[in-house]
Amino acid sequence: EAELYTLYKGIYLPSALHPPESLRFYEDFTFRPDDILIATYPKSGTTWMQEIVPLIMSGGDPASVETLPNWDRVPWLEENRAYTLNLDQRPSPRTFSTHYKYDMLPRSFFETKPKVIYVMRNPKDVFTSAFHYFGTTSFLVKPGPQSEFLHKFLDGQVMFGSWFDHVKSWLNAEEKDRIMYISYEELFMDLKDSVARIAKFLEKPLEAEAVEKIADRCLFKNMKQNNMSNYSLVPAEYMDQTKSEFLRKGIAGDWKNQLTEAEAERFDAVYKEKMKDVTYKFVWD
Ligand code: PPS
Repeated sequence: EAELYTLYKGIYLPSALHPPESLRFYEDFTFRPDDILIATYPKSGTTWMQEIVPLIMSGGDPASVETLPNWDRVPWLEENRAYTLNLDQRPSPRTFSTHYKYDMLPRSFFETKPKVIYVMRNPKDVFTSAFHYFGTTSFLVKPGPQSEFLHKFLDGQVMFGSWFDHVKSWLNAEEKDRIMYISYEELFMDLKDSVARIAKFLEKPLEAEAVEKIADRCLFKNMKQNNMSNYSLVPAEYMDQTKSEFLRKGIAGDWKNQLTEAEAERFDAVYKEKMKDVTYKFVWD
């Protein structure tokens, strides 16, 4: 584990994706006021939003989602590719991703206050998705037995740290008027309405027809067909999708098929304790 993960600001990051140069690049990164930042705890709907937001910004024109892989289309600022992409040459408005907790963001973020879309997902489903995903990659510590992975997950001993700390950090952010909070479950329940709400937040007016077209493209079954978004471009030595596909199930509530009753109870007890001061009304509560 010591080799696979780097401890950065008290958080585990996969070393292969986040060498020191990348972390420094982000520390010194200069945001623009019209940048759009998609912030997520891993496995919460990042890839989905990396499809939705570019389509909204292009008014439904699929060129960018058909020609650029999601990691170049909406790059993670903490990832090793970011500083190879000449991001300062990109025309505004630029769109980025980050898995950082709020307090890990660089100084420029707090000065410039770009717009943020923070996507949350029922942590039991995040756990379930991560359990399947972690075993497929060469750059993450294997999950091991489910009970062990559950312990690590609840304790924040996984990449990008504790789900609880992540969500609380973003819910307590200063710049609430610049942040849209939305959940995977809302996207799942009503994708069209979600697309319309996101477009409104981004101040991008869209005809009903364009909203419909975008929502259709972003359906799980359609995104699975998009080689620029289904991770099929990643060599099998880094990600073995014969074990579990990156776009695995795409549903809300799969934890019911994954956790034992005792595990779900344990999860709920930890959740209740860690989230007791949170007033935000989650759709899954
Ligand atoms: S990562 O590694 O952090 O970028 O992963 P992330 O994209 O945040 O999360 C992956 C899960 O999101 C699901 N997904 C979708 N669900 C429904 N519809 C669409 N269009 C969609 N796109 C991605 C993906 O299947 C993973 O969830 P699970 O539960 O494993 O299927």
